[in-house]
Amino acid sequence: MAARPDRGDVATYIPELARVDPKHFGIAVIDAEGNAHVGGDGDMPFSIQSISKVFTLTLALGKAGDRLWRRVGREPSGSPFNSIVQLENERGIPRNPFINAGAIAITDLILSGHQPREVLGEILRFMQFLADDPTIIIDEAVAASEQRTGYRNNALANYMKAFGVLDNPVEYTLGVYFHHCAIAMSCRQLAMAGRFLAQYGRNPTTGHRVVQPERARRINALMLMCGHYDGSGEFAYRVGLPGKSGVGGGILAIAPGKASIAVWSPGLDASGNSHLGRIALEILTRRMGWSIF
Ligand code: DON
Repeated sequence: MAARPDRGDVATYIPELARVDPKHFGIAVIDAEGNAHVGGDGDMPFSIQSISKVFTLTLALGKAGDRLWRRVGREPSGSPFNSIVQLENERGIPRNPFINAGAIAITDLILSGHQPREVLGEILRFMQFLADDPTIIIDEAVAASEQRTGYRNNALANYMKAFGVLDNPVEYTLGVYFHHCAIAMSCRQLAMAGRFLAQYGRNPTTGHRVVQPERARRINALMLMCGHYDGSGEFAYRVGLPGKSGVGGGILAIAPGKASIAVWSPGLDASGNSHLGRIALEILTRRMGWSIF
């Protein structure tokens, strides 16, 4: 019998995520016609964590447009998701919107002039609107768990604050950040929410234009180059699609014009990306001929 692939290890630095059973596996593919193909635990909600950064970036671009790029770069970092090393040499400007520092800076931008609670409500409603599902919630236990133990993110936020990159009190910005990372969604809901990126800015299920086609293309470009941190090259090499991972074990992958795909398997590789999730996407894209290359 062929050896079963190793599943990787669940994240433990957020204590609440360490309790998740590593044996879960779910997948959802929504094709261009809107058909949903859902397998395994594809209807079970999990913590989307960094996948939320795709959606906060989309919201922030809607508010600030290209002004956003004064605060955050758009180059791959080649460093782990929670790294601080580049901030010192680069005036506190994070390399891209998907590493933690970059996503915290984006959250700060969305927050400006508003109450944390209002902004969180806006992010959650945006997810519900995109997924066409009002039942999506924030898992408060996960948010509280990260709030108690988020020492690295506190360091990143304070460091950026010292450079004048954050406008709001650090605790407000981090409060919103931890809560949007703690949104719980199933693969089906996530694949639905990603449809606008697969369909040139339009969500064909809801009929809404979410962003212009050019913006959808650019968000996909960022996902390809930065969506898996220091594992982004490996993901592009093996899967060949824009993708965004989360430390809860989810990956959202976009086959432009063809499908929005979400996978979930909580065990992670050394870069903090779902191990079996990546393998599943590699097999799927090879069989379907969906690589963009
Ligand atoms: O800030 C953190 O560390 C988490 N809330 C999110 C990190 C994450 O999902 C990294 N992705 N693989």
